[in-house]
Amino acid sequence: MSKNEVANKVIVITGASSGLGEATARHLGSMGAKLVLAARRTDKLNAIIADLNSQNIEAIAVATDVTRRSDMDALAAKALEQFGQIDVWINNAGIMPLSPMSKLLVDEWDQMIDVNIKGVLYGIAAALPHFQTRDSGHFINISSVAARKVFAPIGTVYSATKFAVSAISEGLRAEVGPNIRTTVILPGTTRSELKHNSTDPETAASVQEFWKNFEIPAESVARAIAYAIEQPADVDINEIVLRPTAQEF
Ligand SMILES: NC(=O)c1ccc[n+]([C@@H]2O[C@H](COP(=O)([O-])OP(=O)(O)OC[C@H]3O[C@@H](n4cnc5c(N)ncnc54)[C@H](OP(=O)(O)O)[C@@H]3O)[C@@H](O)[C@H]2O)c1
Repeated sequence: MSKNEVANKVIVITGASSGLGEATARHLGSMGAKLVLAARRTDKLNAIIADLNSQNIEAIAVATDVTRRSDMDALAAKALEQFGQIDVWINNAGIMPLSPMSKLLVDEWDQMIDVNIKGVLYGIAAALPHFQTRDSGHFINISSVAARKVFAPIGTVYSATKFAVSAISEGLRAEVGPNIRTTVILPGTTRSELKHNSTDPETAASVQEFWKNFEIPAESVARAIAYAIEQPADVDINEIVLRPTAQEF
C-alpha cells in the first residue's frame, strides 16, 4: 500500500453494509485506512470485514443502529478501544422511502427523520468530544442533490432531511474552529440498495426506472470522499456535489 494522507487514518463509516458506505470502506481500505464499519446487518458487515482482512486491511464491524444514541456512543468507544483514536467520522447511513405526501406514510417520514437527521446528530455527538480533545478530526456527512432542489412530488420529506444534513454540516463547520474539518457530499443518482426503499408501488416503479437510466457506481462517491480526506490538514473541502453527467435534476 502506498503512503498517502488516507493511510493509517482511523475512519468510522456508518451504513457500511452496502452501497456508498461499503464502496467507501473498500476504497479507503485499499489506500491504507483503518476501518470501523457500522450498520445493523452484521452478516453483511462481517462478510465485508473478512474480505478486507484477507487483503491485509485492518477493519472491524460494530453492530449499530444510528437512531439509538447509546449505539453511536458505543461505536465511538469501540473505535477508540481498538485503534486508540478516530481521525474521520463518516455519517453515511440513510434511507429513502419515497412517496407523495398525500399518501400519508407518516411512519416512513418519522423513520427518515430518525435515520437521516437524528442519526447524523448522534454521530456528531459521539465523535465531537474526542475531536475537540485532540483538536483534530474530520466529519463527512452524506447529503444529496435532493438538498439542492426539493424532490417533489415523491421526495419532499427525504429532501427535508437532506436539507437538514447540509444545514447541520455548514453550521458545524462554522462552530468547530480551525482544526476540525467538515465536509458534506451531495451525490446524484448512485447504484446502491437505496432505490429499493419505497413501499408505495407507483413511486417504487418510477424510482426503479429513474435509477436504471442514470445511476453511476458507488465508487464515484468513494473517490470524492477520499479526495476530501487526502487534502493537507489546513485544507477543508466543505462541499462536493457530484451527479451522473446525464442527470439534470
Ligand atoms: N444512492 C443514491 O443515489 C444516493 C444519492 C444521494 C445520497 N445518497 C445517500 O447515501 C447514503 C448511503 O445510501 P446508499 O445509497 O448507499 O443506500 P444503501 O445501499 O441502502 O445503504 C444504506 C446504508 O444505511 C444503513 N442503515 C439504514 N438504516 C440504518 C440504521 N437505522 N442504523 C444503521 N445503519 C442504517 C444500511 O445498513 P443496515 O440496513 O445494515 O443497517 C446501509 O448500510 C444515504 O445517506 C443516502 O441518502 C444516496
